[in-house]
Amino acid sequence: MKSVSATAPGKIILFGEHAVVYDVPAIAIPVPGVCAQVLVSTAPRGTGILLKNLSTGQMSAVDLTSSDPIARMIRTVLDFARVGALDVTLTLESSIPIASGLGSGAAVSTAVARGLSRFLDLALDDHALNGMVYEIEKMHHGTPSGIDNTVIVFEQPIWFQREHPIEMLSFGAEFTFLVADTGMSALTKAVVSDVRGFYDRHVRFVRSVLDEIAALVVAARSALARGDAVGVGGLMFANHALLQTLSVSSGELDLLVGVARDAGALGAKLSGGGRGGNMIALVCSADAQRISDALYKAGAVRVIETVLRR
Ligand code: PMV
Repeated sequence: MKSVSATAPGKIILFGEHAVVYDVPAIAIPVPGVCAQVLVSTAPRGTGILLKNLSTGQMSAVDLTSSDPIARMIRTVLDFARVGALDVTLTLESSIPIASGLGSGAAVSTAVARGLSRFLDLALDDHALNGMVYEIEKMHHGTPSGIDNTVIVFEQPIWFQREHPIEMLSFGAEFTFLVADTGMSALTKAVVSDVRGFYDRHVRFVRSVLDEIAALVVAARSALARGDAVGVGGLMFANHALLQTLSVSSGELDLLVGVARDAGALGAKLSGGGRGGNMIALVCSADAQRISDALYKAGAVRVIETVLRR
């Protein structure tokens, strides 16, 4: 009996969400403290493809004709491998919270595709895998920029700009981040569509905000490369303020950003689609526990610490 496993991390956007949809560059980092993992094992002949989802407790036969994202991902890999039928069990488990900007959908797709391609001994490189996961992302998000699948597939901090080659980033120091979940879920697709409406109605204003975000992302790249935590932090607060003007923040996000700042964080901002989901704060590692406690006290339902090594 053959059995192979694969994992994919969560992710978080550090700078440039929403603006990235309008071709502004963005910076995103993997969050390895949460992940999706899949085990692919041989099943008795005639079983077909069985999916055991340990996170939901569900077990079901996969209907390859359905539009379910996992079924579509499996079908994409089987088509790539020119395999018509397969008897396998896919056991899936994910610790990535759903619909909170940590890339749960892209990570599940990536782990499933990686696990299955390893099981089939396929030569599927990360660029091809990234393209496949992006196609599935479109089902979740409509017109996603592609940032989620890219950072998750490559598992490295990235500089991402639509229609440009992906660049991997390295940093001049170790940075400690706290990712705090408001507990409110919001549909990225709906928020992206609201921003589009705002853009169409007030194109000059929104363009000027996007230009400011673009300048700030470029400055953030240099500050990260220099290891300038104070500089990065200031740019995070500035990015949050610009996202507020695009009306993608929320009372809960603003509260957590304020609490992080008052507790001594070097920077904080909402991350991802907004109107709920997560905020991210940059902290000195010695202050992480205290700031994390303050965030919980203010209503965060989960705080994940993630360290970016140089
Ligand atoms: O909510 P998330 O983390 O999936 O991020 C969405 C990021 C947006 O820039 C708002 C949309 C996109 O497709 O890039």
